[in-house]
Amino acid sequence: MSALILDGKESARKVKSEVSAAVADLDYRPGLATVLVGDDPASHTYVRGKRSDAAEVGILSFHHEHPADIRQDELEDVIAGLNEDNAVDGILVQLPLPEGLDSERIVSSIDPAKDVDGLHPHNLGLLLLGRPGLRPCTPSGIMRMLEDNGVGVAGKTAVVIGRSFLVGRPLALMMATKGVDATVTMAHSRTPDLVEVSRRADILVAAIGVPRMVNAEYVKPGAAVIDVGISRVEDGLAGDVDFESVREVAGSITPVPGGVGPMTRAMLLVNTLEAARNRRGS
Ligand code: GUN
Repeated sequence: MSALILDGKESARKVKSEVSAAVADLDYRPGLATVLVGDDPASHTYVRGKRSDAAEVGILSFHHEHPADIRQDELEDVIAGLNEDNAVDGILVQLPLPEGLDSERIVSSIDPAKDVDGLHPHNLGLLLLGRPGLRPCTPSGIMRMLEDNGVGVAGKTAVVIGRSFLVGRPLALMMATKGVDATVTMAHSRTPDLVEVSRRADILVAAIGVPRMVNAEYVKPGAAVIDVGISRVEDGLAGDVDFESVREVAGSITPVPGGVGPMTRAMLLVNTLEAARNRRGS
């Protein structure tokens, strides 16, 4: 039997129409500042997508592009200006930054109230404490996609492969939060018996960045498989999951492209709306 395809584009459309309706009810337009440094083509594509999503739902976007040789202090000044700018509700610095720039310090210089990526230590701290705050977009997009598709999380065994601060760690925390109630294992490249560990998962998340690493052997029959990876390979784009073999075993699976990616983008809009409402008190 072939798995149910978890359609991220469809879920993202739903999220975007909710944001769009909420924005139309405001007496101002939320503003999103995008900061792009250097000439990485993938980063340019991602930021273009984020700006066009913003326009689609009525969010203003303010774009700032800088050469790869911008100095750390110059970039921090750009962020300081955006922190002060009242038209800007959210600030997104596209990652990774070029060599030589300290991205942790850059992200930490963003006003936490405008941190629509949810990556500032303040917001990551709120997540750790289980308190409300801006959450990282990819993990919250995954949670929303599971919910939209009726994939229950409470009481389930989840295995997240990958421990990045962008995806693996925050997602593991979210799934284990009181009220969400999965039992979570955070696995990684040094986990012994990774195949065996993965096969225990009712919900298996691959966020490793190794194309097609997770094959059918890793998957318990009927499991929900979430593929966060996206890599350029000879025959196009590939996720971390070997889609063709895993779809024969899994109960449900996200495609690449068209799975997690569109949800990451959609949740940025949700966060921008939330940041705007919190800042402007409506
Ligand atoms: N690069 C890859 N994913 C992300 C993300 O979610 N936010 C930012 N700012 N950069 C990224």
